[in-house]
This record gives sequence, C-alpha cells and structure tokens, in this order.
Amino acid sequence: MNRRPIGIFDSGVGGTSIWREIAHLLPFENTIYLADSKNAPYGERPAEEILQLSIKNTEFLIQKGCKLIVVACNTATTNAIDYLRKNYEIPFIGIEPAIKPAALHTKSKKVGVLATKGTLSSALFHSTAQLHASGIEILERQGKGLVELIENGEMKSEETRALLQEYVNPMLKKDIDYLVLGCSHYPYLIPLLREILPNNVTVIDSGEAVARQTKSILEEKELLNSDDSNGKHLFYTNVATDTLEMILKNATENLIIEQLDF
Ligand code: DGL
Repeated sequence: MNRRPIGIFDSGVGGTSIWREIAHLLPFENTIYLADSKNAPYGERPAEEILQLSIKNTEFLIQKGCKLIVVACNTATTNAIDYLRKNYEIPFIGIEPAIKPAALHTKSKKVGVLATKGTLSSALFHSTAQLHASGIEILERQGKGLVELIENGEMKSEETRALLQEYVNPMLKKDIDYLVLGCSHYPYLIPLLREILPNNVTVIDSGEAVARQTKSILEEKELLNSDDSNGKHLFYTNVATDTLEMILKNATENLIIEQLDF
C-alpha cells in the first residue's frame, strides 16, 4: 500500500512546481503526474467543464493505483475539490492562493493576487479572501494568456514580460507589498517577476505549504512509503513532451516522461 504513488494533476505543466516541492520534502515517495495540457487553460472554461476534467484526471490516477491525489491546480481545486472529496474515498490535497500569509505580513495592507479567471470567480476563493483578509485591500488580476505562454515554454520571452508588466503595474501603483501567485504555472515566472518588481514586493506561492500538507496527511493516514530508496517519477502528458522535458531537465534521475492519449 505505502509504495503506491502519490498522484498529482494539473491542466498542464504548471503543477510540476508543486511536484518539485513534494519530491524535495518526500524523497522516498513515488509519484505519477498528469499534465492535461491538451485542455489547458482550464481557467477560461465554465465551472462545470473544469469539474468534468478534474473527475477524468482523478479517475485516471485512481486507476494507476495512487494512494492520495494532489490537485496541483488552483482552478481545479477552487471549482472541484469539494465534489471530489465527497465522491471518492482517496484523500485529496488542494492548492489555493496563499492569501493568508500575505494578509498576515503585509505592511501596506495591499496585496496583489494574480490568478486565472476560473480561480478568481470561484466561491472558494472569495470565502478564503473574506476569512483571511479582512481589512486588507486585495487587488485581483486575471493572468490571461500566461498559462498558454508557459505551456509553450516561454518563461522569459518579451511577450511574457510585456503581459506581466501590464498585469502588475496597476497593483504597483496601488502600493502592494505582496504578490500572491494563485496559479501553479506562475512560479515559473518568478525570475522574470524579480526583474520587474521592486525589491520591497514579496512574491509568494503555495508550493511548500502543499508539500507540507501532503506529508502531514500521509503521516496521519499511515500512508508514507517506508522504503528508503529514492522515489520514481512518472509524468504523463497528452501533448508533445518538449515543455515537460525542458522544465524537468536536471530535476531528478528517476524520471520518465510519456505522451498518452487521454
Ligand atoms: N495551473 C493552473 C492553476 O493553478 C492553471 C489553470 C489553467 O489552466 O488556466 O490554476
């Protein structure tokens, strides 16, 4: 049982930013990652479609024998995790924009959130923002187009820079001192963001918190892999493997990337 892999899915390559944190914190765990890049971006789809795609990904990972599923996509988490938890026995870990730590530490009382339309329009996002950020001004911005650029491997292109600048400039004018990355693709933009943002703006994402939560649920449910050899990592994508290969280059030796039709 405990050698069974952790399943991770995202609308594409972005959730590998979460996989990295998990593989780092839990080096003996085997993982299976599902990149549904053919259907990216999820963020522009109606909630019902996001739910159906999340169900399809969940069933794929359950069939592969996963012991726990990490929904490494804010858009899928905010639109589907309640349904998944109610309808499947396997434990689920979700990812949500890290508003809480930003709200706790902001000095200017102004926090920027860059996320997809699907996340920003979800009920879960609004209830979290209300719960953790009362008295804080949240400046939301849809990162339209960014997921497509990252799926294309364009983490540092001029087009990506121009879009990012367009999205963060209004937040900077309003004096944010925290920028929350509410999409698991966006951590791949941190090098570019660091060039664009002034030093007083802290960028935060949810990767480490998700990895810690994954570890604690595996411990609680006695599902940790007791082997002490390095985990094996299998990545499935339903498009060409190029961007995944580029992103995962040098990540670990025990890694296989396969293209599948799903
Ligand atoms: N990585 C997904 C997220 O965290 C991207 C969503 C999309 O495909 O639009 O929201």
